[in-house]
Amino acid sequence: MGKDTIYEHLRQQGVSRRNFMKMCAALVGAMGLKQAAPIEASNLPPELARTAYKPVELVAKALESKPRVPVIWLEFQDCAGCSEALTRSQSPTVVDLVLNKISIEYHETLSAAAGYQTEENKHRIMQEYAGQYVLVVEGSIPTGANAHFCTVGGRSAEDLLKEAAAGAGAIIATGNCAAYGGLPKADPNPTGARGVWEIITDKPVVNIPGCPPIPEAMTGTLAHFIVFGSLPELDSLNRPKTFYAQTIHDRCLRRPFYEAGKFAETFDDEGARQGWCLYKLGCKGPTTYNACAGIKWDAGLSFPIQSGHPCLGCSEPNFWDGGGFYQGQSAPLNRPTLTAAGAAAAVGIVAGASAALGNKAQKSKAHKEASE
Ligand code: SF4
Ligand code: F3S
Repeated sequence: MGKDTIYEHLRQQGVSRRNFMKMCAALVGAMGLKQAAPIEASNLPPELARTAYKPVELVAKALESKPRVPVIWLEFQDCAGCSEALTRSQSPTVVDLVLNKISIEYHETLSAAAGYQTEENKHRIMQEYAGQYVLVVEGSIPTGANAHFCTVGGRSAEDLLKEAAAGAGAIIATGNCAAYGGLPKADPNPTGARGVWEIITDKPVVNIPGCPPIPEAMTGTLAHFIVFGSLPELDSLNRPKTFYAQTIHDRCLRRPFYEAGKFAETFDDEGARQGWCLYKLGCKGPTTYNACAGIKWDAGLSFPIQSGHPCLGCSEPNFWDGGGFYQGQSAPLNRPTLTAAGAAAAVGIVAGASAALGNKAQKSKAHKEASE
């Protein structure tokens, strides 16, 4: 990869200044930036942070001054679903991200080259860009006496992870497996699977959990590192707060039915057909932090609950062992009194106003039906 700045690279690709500024605005949205706050949080040079007072200008100045970021993407005990999900990112699109802002130098699924050629390139990047490259890990890591359960080129996943993590400028664990062990860690955890942050403890690891994770959470986090050279604010489980600060339940379009005590009892009863709350069918939305109900999937088309399936809690640690997926009452059911239901419905209306545009029609329909 060349040493051009991202802006210079874009100009060479024929991107106009106008479209460049549009791209910067899209990135601001993707990162969920608020006015001025990120400037204080960034580690941009003081003269840059002083001269840019709006997020779009700040992003533009950063992209004008920074080269593309090399990425090494390691896959261990995974199904490649997180890579597959990334290709569905809409803001920024993976094409824009991969071609213009990052340079994926090593990826076992996406790389055209293979074998010694890619291994050599990985080592070159680790040396030439020590302290600058982003390490993305997909899949859990078998450890200890079970380390041999996943090897690449004759070396264990644990060994390869530690080697690549040593010189990384940022480490991102994508998907529940890399973040918290995921399916391979499910009881009885035959491979001794662990998440990245249980093994790499001398530097922060950003967790983007989900099975798979929302692609915009991944690309938005990468965009934050590209623009600010730092990691976004994280919660206690190392998830970016921008995408994981609210529960699915907080923004669910079926929430008015929950507040009204209207629940589907089976997948084909009248309640299910009417779009009632899926809590009794095992929904883990009340205890699951993720952005599915707002960002949704496939360009905002839908998400599991909208499609009629309860949330499985796929962005939470140990979700495979958290009781039956379709077992109801898996989180405290606080059935409201009539008065509380009225107040809660009012909260629902206010929350609905700030929810994604696509939710609005369904939500008002749900409100109407819930009150009948
Ligand atoms: Fe909450 Fe799930 Fe019911 Fe939605 S379907 S309101 S997330 S319990
Ligand atoms: Fe996962 Fe629940 Fe979203 S199952 S995809 S966190 S709705």
